[in-house]
Amino acid sequence: MCLQPRKLPITKPLFDQDDFNAIIGPLKTGWVVQGPNVAEFERLFCSFTGIKHAVATTSCTTALHMGLVAAGIKPGDEVIVPSFTFIATANAIEYCGAKPVFCDIDVGTFAIDPIEIEKKITPKTRAVIPVSLFGLPAHLNEIDKICKKHGLILFEDAACAIGARINGTHCGNWGIGAAFSFHPRKAISTGEGGMFATNNDVLAQQVRSLRDHGASKSDLQRHTEHGGSLLPEFNVLGYNYRMTDIQGALGVTQMKKLEAILKGRAQGAAMYNKLLADMPQVLLPNVPSGYIHGYQSYVVLLTDKQGQIPDFKNVSVLNQKRNKIMAELEQRGITVRQGTHAVHTLGHYKTKYSIKDNDYPFSFMADRLSITLPLFHDFKEDDGVYVKENLKELFKRF
Ligand SMILES: Cc1ncc(COP(=O)(O)O)c(C=O)c1O
Repeated sequence: MCLQPRKLPITKPLFDQDDFNAIIGPLKTGWVVQGPNVAEFERLFCSFTGIKHAVATTSCTTALHMGLVAAGIKPGDEVIVPSFTFIATANAIEYCGAKPVFCDIDVGTFAIDPIEIEKKITPKTRAVIPVSLFGLPAHLNEIDKICKKHGLILFEDAACAIGARINGTHCGNWGIGAAFSFHPRKAISTGEGGMFATNNDVLAQQVRSLRDHGASKSDLQRHTEHGGSLLPEFNVLGYNYRMTDIQGALGVTQMKKLEAILKGRAQGAAMYNKLLADMPQVLLPNVPSGYIHGYQSYVVLLTDKQGQIPDFKNVSVLNQKRNKIMAELEQRGITVRQGTHAVHTLGHYKTKYSIKDNDYPFSFMADRLSITLPLFHDFKEDDGVYVKENLKELFKRF
């Protein structure tokens, strides 16, 4: 088949005239720091996710950090995290002086393996952070049971999980809550930005204060109540993790498009599922029954010659093949990435905790053999066919 060359980004944010108009609002009023638009963004986020409280932040990383601080994580504590995730999940634990304890994944879903979690629990374990990676919910019901059985805190890294649900319940509703991201690789974006979300009234209040240097009241509250002349109390050590109102205004207009964006991404993913179904060289996303995948990313895993999850001894050879295929796809305008990192293989963690690559073999495999394919809200069948035909040809060649 002869295909017209095309340029497919890994993803693209949907910014339109509504967004352009919205961000001018705070510039005109002059209220550009956290204010009424951030409050409205938080309200819309709660209404979409069904989570009681939402606290907008500068990023998901800072939301993770504050959630752990509010949960009382301190030096000497251990927190269990998947070894296949973005580095920020583990970094947030290190910011608290606690130790991230890595746990391998179930490679079929790229999510932390609940069976492995129990093996990692020690008297120092305080919390587990499951990550709903690429928009597919982690095995949250099983993990919730394990946490309850062992008296552990469950705190979701839901960076990629907007739109992700299990039996109708949106991610972020398990345990003490969750951290979400609005980085441009996510379904909706405020440039940088994040959200701490929780059903717990006390925790929400604590994080609101932590976000604002530990202040007992926000600037907006202060100005609304007393004209702003008297400063609030500062009884805890906090941070400046506030979202600007310019970003808040963008968050509001992005929320209004969210359903349409998720629908477009789900349709793109369904196209891939159909087009790649007869390609045994890759394992497609596996969505357990009752789960809704938010498709922040569409990630496939290279298989062995029988179309199965490969043996560990073949990972290195297959990794070379994956890298050649990814380089060729890029040459043809198809932007691709490995799924995410095996964090235990990254310098800081590898050195600090003397970890070997094969200590977490499925995470290592996912790092070396995954490919994220382009996916965005207006992904067309032609785009899918272009990816498929190029993959087909490259699999013949390599
Ligand atoms: C799983 C996961 N956790 C945390 C983060 C950090 O998000 P942010 O860039 O908003 O801090 C990301 C970002 O890609 C992520 O994918």
